[in-house]
Amino acid sequence: MSSPRACETSGYSVQRQGDFATASVTQNVRDCADCGGTGLLRATVNENGRTYDVVEPCPRARMVARAAAFSSAHLPAVHAQASFDTFRPSNVEQARAVQLAREFSAKYPQTRGFVLSGPVGTGKTHLLCATLKHLALELGARVAYVEISLLYAQIRRGFQDGKSGGEIIQPLSQVDVLAIDELGKGRGSAFELDTLDELIARRYNSGRVTLFATNYSLKSPEDRAQRGYLGTDALVDASKESKLLADRVGDRIYSRLCEMCEFVEFPGNTADQRRTKTVSGNPNGPPRR
Ligand SMILES: Nc1ncnc2c1ncn2[C@@H]1O[C@H](COP(=O)(O)OP(=O)(O)O)[C@@H](O)[C@H]1O
Ligand SMILES: [Mg+2]
Repeated sequence: MSSPRACETSGYSVQRQGDFATASVTQNVRDCADCGGTGLLRATVNENGRTYDVVEPCPRARMVARAAAFSSAHLPAVHAQASFDTFRPSNVEQARAVQLAREFSAKYPQTRGFVLSGPVGTGKTHLLCATLKHLALELGARVAYVEISLLYAQIRRGFQDGKSGGEIIQPLSQVDVLAIDELGKGRGSAFELDTLDELIARRYNSGRVTLFATNYSLKSPEDRAQRGYLGTDALVDASKESKLLADRVGDRIYSRLCEMCEFVEFPGNTADQRRTKTVSGNPNGPPRR
C-alpha cells in the first residue's frame, strides 16, 4: 500500500499541476457541517468588558484560502511531495539542515532564515519546498519560491513589454517568506547583481525572512582582507570563476546574508540523490562513459 500523500493527514492534497505544485482541500466547504457551506461562522468576542457578535471564516474555508495561496507560490512541481519526514540525512550537516528547517517552522515568525549550500542533488530545494509548504498550509504564511536565474530571465522579458524590474520584484519583496534558489547562478552581470541586491535589500529593510539555497561555498575567501571591498566592476571579474558565494554575489549581499540567516554547508562528497535513484532503479548501474 502506498503511504499517504504528505499533507493529506491534515486535510490537504498536494499535487503537480504543470510546472508547479498546487494544493486543494480534501473536503469541500459546501459539505461542511459547521458552517452549513457558507464558509462563515458566528462567534462571540469579549473586548474591554464588552461582548460582540462577529462573523469569521470557518476553519475549512480558511484552509481553502491557504491552499489557494500555496498554489500561487510557484513551488516546482517536482517537489510537490517534499516534506521534512521524507528527508533522509546522510551526514551531520544534512541532519543539521533538516533540524534547522523544522525549528524555523516551529519558531516562525520569531526566527532568522537559513542558507543551504552543497553539491547538486543533495536535497537543498527539497528542504526549501518542505519549509514553504509547512508555512503556507499549516501556518497560513504568504510564501513564494523563485529560482534566481529564471527571475532574471523573467525581468529581461518584462523589459520588452515595458515592465520595470521593480514591478516584477515587488510581489516577491512583499511575501512573508521568500525562498531564493540557485543563489549565485547566472552570468554575474551588473544587471543581475543589481536585481538581486534590490530584492534582498527590500526584504532586509522590511525585516522579512528569506531562505536560500546555493551550489556555491559559504566560506569566506582567505584573501578577502587583503583584497578589501569589491565594487561592482571588480566584482563582475572576480565572480566569474569563483566557487565561493561571497565572490558570486559580492560583499554587500554576502554581509546581509550573514545577518539574515543561519548557514549550513554540505560536504563536497554528499551523495547526489538523483544519481542514487538512477542506480537503484537500474540493476546495471549508471551508463558507462
Ligand atoms: N537527503 C535526502 N532525503 C530524501 N530525498 C532527497 C535527499 N536529498 C535529495 N533528495 C531527493 O533527490 C532529488 C534531488 O534533490 P534536490 O532537493 O532537487 O537537490 P538540490 O536542490 O540539492 O540540487 C529530489 O527528488 C529530492 O527529493
Ligand atoms: Mg535545487
